[in-house]
Amino acid sequence: MSQKQTSFQTTQTLFDYYQDQPVTKFSLTNQNGVRLSVLDFGALVYEITLPNGQNLILNYPHTKDYLANPFYLGMAIGRTAGRIKNGILHLANRTVQLPTNEGTTTLHGGPHGFNSQFWHGQIQTNDAEPKIILQRHQLSQIDGFPGNLQVTITYSLTNTNRININFQAHSDQLSVFNPTMHLYFNLGTTNSILDHTLQINSTQILQLDSQKIPTGQLMPTAQTPFDFQTPHLLNTAIEQLQTTTEKGFDDLFIVQPDADQKIAELTAPNNQCQIQLFSQRNGLVVFSANSFTKEHMNLTRTNGVGMPYLGLALEPETLPNGENEPVEDSILIKPNETKNYQIGYQLIF
Ligand code: GLA
Repeated sequence: MSQKQTSFQTTQTLFDYYQDQPVTKFSLTNQNGVRLSVLDFGALVYEITLPNGQNLILNYPHTKDYLANPFYLGMAIGRTAGRIKNGILHLANRTVQLPTNEGTTTLHGGPHGFNSQFWHGQIQTNDAEPKIILQRHQLSQIDGFPGNLQVTITYSLTNTNRININFQAHSDQLSVFNPTMHLYFNLGTTNSILDHTLQINSTQILQLDSQKIPTGQLMPTAQTPFDFQTPHLLNTAIEQLQTTTEKGFDDLFIVQPDADQKIAELTAPNNQCQIQLFSQRNGLVVFSANSFTKEHMNLTRTNGVGMPYLGLALEPETLPNGENEPVEDSILIKPNETKNYQIGYQLIF
């Protein structure tokens, strides 16, 4: 074993049981004492913990809690992030009716998406930096999407405190692949992200209809609460949204990755901690947990209850077109094609 390998600790432990099946927790701890843990149910990120024990993302104590509400806490999202109007997928010259799970809409991969499945997990230690690898064969007959998709999600943590999550898929038919990770960050010590500042490389958002489906119109963010080109306090922005139905953010930002592919950064009060987000894709969904409820949210952080603005979900993805337009080539996966998408999270503390 090399020096570098010995500086990492890896563990694989029983988390709990869900539907009579064991759920395993895989953890990587780097030489600085930062820990990343992932569960093989929902391919979800369970914790990102600083050396002082502070967990930067929201989580639950039991697997069943993750499915008790519609918030997708920490979960892997796929095959496609976001909403498909009426569950109708337009593919080349045919349309496919998908199962729906939010009224008439297919949200976040539908009722049998990545988040609702068991994955086959292992820790790979052949490289200097170990990786958690989750794999599954997402069959068309299970989630109702066309094509059988072989999916591998690889989670790594470096000694420079960067987490990289790579989504790889191979399909046997023309289908769609636009995955994301639904982490809710709270980098501070209070039960609110209103005291955090956010910066996004974005000058436009997508206009949404009443079902939160993009209309195809773009809206400039300059001089609006959506302008985060320079860092802005979330409280200032969200106060200005109190007259809207949403009372916060649940929006699709068009992003321009910078030279290093950084698209956004979230900072705790007094710069105590920061997360920089890296993605090659053109979109970022920002959801400020406006609709978190008291019930059905057995959150570890609050010892039970959910409340608006407890966390901020930052979900990099490829943006959809407007309603009823064929999906863009960019989210198509062709027969026998292998596609990779990576999301990077740089921790600064
Ligand atoms: C995304 C969506 C929200 C909501 C959350 C999960 O952020 O944009 O509308 O569905 O996922 O609850």
